[in-house]
Parts: sequence; C-alpha cells; structure tokens
Amino acid sequence: MAFWFCCGKVSNRARRGKEQPTWRVFSLKELHSATNNFNYDNKLGEGCFGSVYWGQLWDGSQIVVKRLKVWSNIDETEFTVELEILARIRHKNLLSFRGFCAEGQERLIVYEYMHNLSLHSHLHGHHSFESPLDWNRRMKIAIGSAEGIVYLHHQATPRIIHRDIKSSNVLLDSDFRAKVADFGFARLIPDGATHVMTTKVKGTLGYLAPEYAMLGKAYESCDVYSFGVLLLELASGRRPTEKLSSTVRQSIVDWALPLVCEKKFGEIADPRLNGNYVEAELKRVVLVALMSAQDLPEKRPTMLDVVELLKGESKDKFSHIENSEMFRNPLDAETNDGTSETEDSFDYISEEKELERPLRENAEL
Ligand SMILES: Nc1ncnc2c1ncn2[C@@H]1O[C@H](COP(=O)(O)OP(=O)(O)OP(=O)(O)O)[C@@H](O)[C@H]1O
Ligand SMILES: [Mg+2]
Repeated sequence: MAFWFCCGKVSNRARRGKEQPTWRVFSLKELHSATNNFNYDNKLGEGCFGSVYWGQLWDGSQIVVKRLKVWSNIDETEFTVELEILARIRHKNLLSFRGFCAEGQERLIVYEYMHNLSLHSHLHGHHSFESPLDWNRRMKIAIGSAEGIVYLHHQATPRIIHRDIKSSNVLLDSDFRAKVADFGFARLIPDGATHVMTTKVKGTLGYLAPEYAMLGKAYESCDVYSFGVLLLELASGRRPTEKLSSTVRQSIVDWALPLVCEKKFGEIADPRLNGNYVEAELKRVVLVALMSAQDLPEKRPTMLDVVELLKGESKDKFSHIENSEMFRNPLDAETNDGTSETEDSFDYISEEKELERPLRENAEL
C-alpha cells in the first residue's frame, strides 16, 4: 500500500543519512493522552484535511496534532505526500514535523506548536483587532515566508511546488518568525521536468494562478502568484477577494493595481497601521506583490528575485519593476472595471475542483 511504501522509503533515507531523523512514530494512546482525548477545548481549528488540536507530551513539549477527517484513499494520498515531503525538508521558515501515527483507521500528523498561530488569524481573525501586526513584523513575515518558499523551489531535491500558499498556511512562532506549513497538496517535481500535470486543481480560490486553475499545469510560478496575493493581504489587511455586492467579487489584485497606477500607496496600507509604516518598504512590498500576481506566468519574478527585492538588495531590478508598463498605463475603465462575476460559494474556501475537460499535456499557456 502507498502509505507503507512511503514510510519505508522515508525510514531508509533517514537511516542512510548522516543526520538523525528528528521525527518519530507516535502511538494513538500517546496522542490521546497529549490532547486530552481530542478534547474540544484543545481544538485550534479545522481545515479541509481535518481538525487541528493543541497537545502536550509527557516531557512538557507542546505539539499540534492534525487528525484526518474521515480516512479514505484520497486522504491517504495526501497523508503520504505530506509525510514524504515533511521528512525531506528542514528550514527555519518551514514548519517542523515531529512525527505521525497510523493506527487502524486513524491518520495523524504531529507538528511543533506555533504560539502565534497563523498569519490569517492576525490579519482577519480574532487577533486582528486586539494587537494588529506592526510594520516591522509584517516585513519580517514577508521575507521569512518567501525564504521558506525559496528553499522548496530552489534548494530542495527534488524541487517542491507547494500549491496552497495562503495566509492560514503561514504560521508564526513565539518570536513571530514565519513558518510555511501544509504540504498535503504539494508535489515533487521530477528531475529534468519543468512542471507537474494534475487532473485535479487543488488550492484555495483567490490565490490560484489563472493558468493553473484553467489548465492544471503546476509550475513554481503558481506559488509565486499565490505569494503575490499573500503579500498584498499582508500590506493591506484585506482578504484575497472582497464582496462588492451579492454576486460580484473583486480580487485584491484588481483593487490594488489602479491605486498603484495613481501612486496612491498610502490607500493600500492597512488602516490598522495608523500610518506607522516605512513608505519605501510598503512600495516595495506592493510592487513586488503585483509583479508576482500578474496573469502571465513568464513575467512573474522567481522566489529568489522576490526575496532579493523585498530585502531591497537589487536597485536595478527594483527600478526595472517601478518603470514597468503595468504600473504606467492608466486603466481602461470600460474593458476592465476590476470586478468579476462569481458565485457566493466562491468565498474563500479550499476546494478540489475537477477539470471540466481533458487536459492536453502540451497545452500552451
Ligand atoms: N503547528 C501549528 N501551531 C499552531 N496552530 C496551528 C498549527 N497548525 C495549524 N494551526 C491552526 O489550526 C488552523 C487550522 O489549520 P489547517 O491547516 O487544518 O486549516 P487551514 O490552514 O485553515 O486550511 P487548509 O486545510 O486548506 O490548510 C490554522 O488556521 C492555525 O490557526
Ligand atoms: Mg493549513
């Protein structure tokens, strides 16, 4: 079975490698006791894979246990993919994996606990009003999460496409260091390949690159698009799409672009910052975000470029972006009013959308 095959490979690799594996197999009994029998009071949230619980091990260390909803073959694939990837990666900006449990029908993944929960909870959840993230923290989160993705795209072997970059998958430790999480949708890119083809488009609406949503071809540039949306969210405090009326939604990109063309950067800044931000950095974040979240994948920067630009390390590349056509042309109000017709149910949900027509391997973007 795929799961045991995967775990066999993982343990072999760990045995062959010089470093000791940092994860282990947990018993169900141990996880029951750590989470007070998966008590409702221990529940941190729920995603499309299942429920997430806080727990404490006998040695006092705090953990998070993700318990898959209902076991099925589909969940099994996502479970094995996530384990395979988690066992390969180690980076300061990627969530650490403590181990897993597979007993009977139960499939559980154990992670380190992130004291400040997700970026989503700080931008849109209960933390957003009590103590809004200050600008320094936002910059640190932008650069840290970008560095985590650089590791996946450029340093891991084989390279990894995350496919579900979004604010609820960026977790924050006690020091507000960003850690990218959730590899259940991720894919390893075989050596020599430029992309992976999928028959099912996975990810979260509002963050999906258009070519991936339409053709099911996943490149690293699809993560760059999602990261661009996340950067705009971080700078503005807005959601990836906002409702204009009961049937019309506006994407954060369509909202921000005209403001940039009119050089109204201050109107993009999150009002909860009360004007306390570094103007040059805000401009950098917003311009890099819009370059990343543009429709043409070949025009998007790589994540290496994104990190360099966010850190302000490349004056040449930045002035090239500043002078880009897309920020100069006045918007044509008649052909692009920045809105699109969507269904209500499209409101910020994770979904697995079957492609409606067969995919062509050589389809042009
Ligand atoms: N390691 C962790 N430390 C602290 N909180 C966590 C951790 N992992 C998840 N959470 C919390 O649990 C919530 C649910 O996580 P989960 O990944 O299941 O759902 P999601 O990110 O909202 O959606 P998706 O299933 O699409 O990833 C997160 O928003 C976060 O607040
Ligand atoms: Mg998640």
